[in-house]
Amino acid sequence: MNGFEEKDGVLNVDGVSLTTIAKEVGTPVYVYSASVISSQFEKLKSALARALPANRQPLICFACKANSNISILSHLQNAGSGLEIVSEGELVRGLKAGFEANKIVSTGVGKQKSEIAACLKAGILQFNVESLPELERINQVAGEVNIKARVAFRLNPNVSGGGHHKISTGRKRDKFGISLDVMEHAYATAAKMEHVTPVGLSMHIGSQVFDVQKFKEAFSHIPDVVKKLRSNGHSVTRLDIGGGFPIIYKDENLLDLDSYAQWVNDIIAPLDTDIILEPGRYLVGNAGVILTEVLYVKETSDRKFLIVDAAMNDLIRPAMYDAYHGIEAVQNRNAPKQVYDVVGPVCETGDTFTTDRELPAMRAGDYAVIKSAGAYGASMASNYNTRPVAAEVLAQNGAYKIIRRRQTYDDILATELV
Ligand SMILES: Cc1ncc(COP(=O)(O)O)c(C=O)c1O
Repeated sequence: MNGFEEKDGVLNVDGVSLTTIAKEVGTPVYVYSASVISSQFEKLKSALARALPANRQPLICFACKANSNISILSHLQNAGSGLEIVSEGELVRGLKAGFEANKIVSTGVGKQKSEIAACLKAGILQFNVESLPELERINQVAGEVNIKARVAFRLNPNVSGGGHHKISTGRKRDKFGISLDVMEHAYATAAKMEHVTPVGLSMHIGSQVFDVQKFKEAFSHIPDVVKKLRSNGHSVTRLDIGGGFPIIYKDENLLDLDSYAQWVNDIIAPLDTDIILEPGRYLVGNAGVILTEVLYVKETSDRKFLIVDAAMNDLIRPAMYDAYHGIEAVQNRNAPKQVYDVVGPVCETGDTFTTDRELPAMRAGDYAVIKSAGAYGASMASNYNTRPVAAEVLAQNGAYKIIRRRQTYDDILATELV
């Protein structure tokens, strides 16, 4: 069995009963389906393979921030993915997971000296540069370690990438990228520097981009910019066209990948560059759930709360972005429906996964899953309220393995001094 399916009345993941995982590993626990991750990667890859010629197939660089567990990274690396990183820590993870350095791209507005040096020493493919001061810093560090840095400039197209305003990165007011009017100057500055080589452009407009029209709009200046840079005598050999592919949280109409790939073929491929993509959420989001136990059913005069053992420190998205996440019962799935607020134990009213949700009636001790938690779930977890970070489990072909053990209190306290 593949993905999340009901078997004998119980929700399973890749052929493993979620009640078994809950009993053996404890809750809350992040549970991932290896088959869903593989099929998402293949869906994206094959849409591009259908639309683009063989010599223009993009390098897909998984955005590590979406899920940085090294087993997940290594699963994607085995499938043929590269990696997009935004910190030295993500570089460490990527190398540990087995990515070749020349398939790693570094982005982020605040690259630090040690991070730049570590990326250079590892031999990463390129830095996506987000400002002129950063370009100078990269040139300086590259000189110190005596390794030339390949840089691509991230263009800020002044287009909002959809989704929540906190995950839109392409507007003028956002901190990301370099505006169109300074791009020529930035490229020319880099070309004169001793320790950097400008290789191209990059762009990521935000997350949950449902309509290919958004990409068309945001990238509309790219062909002219590339032509202009080339006519100024520069070489432009790479275009990193970012991520932002959406997943289903509720009932969204997803981006049509074939139209997207066709757009890449029609607009990007003729520019005759290598192409890089940076999908995060799309590859892992729907592959993961948080498996949680109902601690109490609390009834007040006007609400019925399911108090579960997962909380906002395990999945911050509802509190941070008002995000919707599907919730399902693991057993007794056909019980009569009740309307619940599903909340965690953290001392914040914001620790609420949903309000007024119709779910099968549940009792204390029952298990439920919070869906679409494979991206920006565990990677955004914290120890708020001194809650240990939950374990992570990867299921595949009827078996599961623990890919991160549950944190202990000793782990949490180990770095603190009295
Ligand atoms: C530069 C960059 N690339 C890729 C991504 C991945 O975005 P998504 O998970 O929506 O594909 C992000 C997300 O924040 C990003 O900042």
